[in-house]
Amino acid sequence: MIYLDNSATTFPKPPSVRKAMIDAVTQYGANPGRSGHSMSIRASEEIFKCRSRAAKFFGANSPENVVFTLNCTHAINIVLKGLLHKGDHVVVSDIEHNAVVRPLYALSECGISYTVVRVSINDSDETLASFRSALRDNTKLVVCNHVSNVWGIRLPIERITAMCHQYGIEVLVDASQSAGVLPINMTDIGIDYLCLPGHKGLYSPMGVGMLITAEGEKLGTLIEGGTGSNSAVLEQPTIMPDRFESGTQNLPAISGLRAGIEFVDAITPEKIHAHEIKLLSNLYDRLQENKRVKLYTPRPNNKISGGVLSFNIKDTDSETVADYLNTRYGIAVRAGLHCAPLAHQHFGTETQGAVRVSPSYFTTVREITTLSQAINSYK
Ligand code: ALA
Repeated sequence: MIYLDNSATTFPKPPSVRKAMIDAVTQYGANPGRSGHSMSIRASEEIFKCRSRAAKFFGANSPENVVFTLNCTHAINIVLKGLLHKGDHVVVSDIEHNAVVRPLYALSECGISYTVVRVSINDSDETLASFRSALRDNTKLVVCNHVSNVWGIRLPIERITAMCHQYGIEVLVDASQSAGVLPINMTDIGIDYLCLPGHKGLYSPMGVGMLITAEGEKLGTLIEGGTGSNSAVLEQPTIMPDRFESGTQNLPAISGLRAGIEFVDAITPEKIHAHEIKLLSNLYDRLQENKRVKLYTPRPNNKISGGVLSFNIKDTDSETVADYLNTRYGIAVRAGLHCAPLAHQHFGTETQGAVRVSPSYFTTVREITTLSQAINSYK
């Protein structure tokens, strides 16, 4: 199989990630932070190692600011539901995923309002102006993804964050498609809440994501429970990261995440990004020669794109094309709406969806050549 669905989850995972997970269940599979015996301490150390790695990699000012979550959606929900109250207003981009839009829609039942602003693909001044014009006196938070999971468009998060801070408004960045692919230093950029999955660009297993924030103590909790700390007190701890980590942690996944971050760090996100952009710009050029192929975004380039490219073949349903690639050529891509209906409204593809190609560091030029030949063979 030629696997080009890495925006859904990266495959394969590096050998070091697989080994770290096996070690976690074969060598130190005790419950971290709950007992005083050697194996439990070893498990806790492994979790702390991952926290420290993640803090350094993403420029957080302390490992305690790294909260392990189930996935990125969970991290986003913690912030939205822990921060917002009746009367608050939120601004989001029009390329957000349902991980953002569905919780906001649910919160709108509780008196929280939100405005969706249109992004301009090639013009960050215009994008910034759209965000600015949507701000209100009661705007508490701006939410934007770093890279669209459908169109690969990159948002100018540095400028958005700087502008929001002028007005005292916090920013949540959904780094689902950029974590591990683009360099992110949250302190330099000024991101207040960084939400990300482990299983995509960090090459980790599913089942672990992260919320990284220095503002955690002020957020309300989604769940409460045992943390291994302050057990005599019924009130949920306020200290980070315990406040958001009730229940036993996913040690094998967190061990894999640590190895995944080390894998990416050794190669560097810059190199991974350059590799993916080279493959996608090559694909773009081949597809552009086919008059039946609809391309929606400019040719992928380092400045405005992440590692995602979507297209359609005339008016054919995107699922039909993806099915053809799978059954005839063994090529795995994703089609449909990609859980991001807003992003489809941006280009008018809400009925047809789009065929999405997302390479990883392991994808080869030969695989992309086979894909372009397969697409061009579709009648
Ligand atoms: N959010 C993931 C995707 O875009 C699953 O495919």
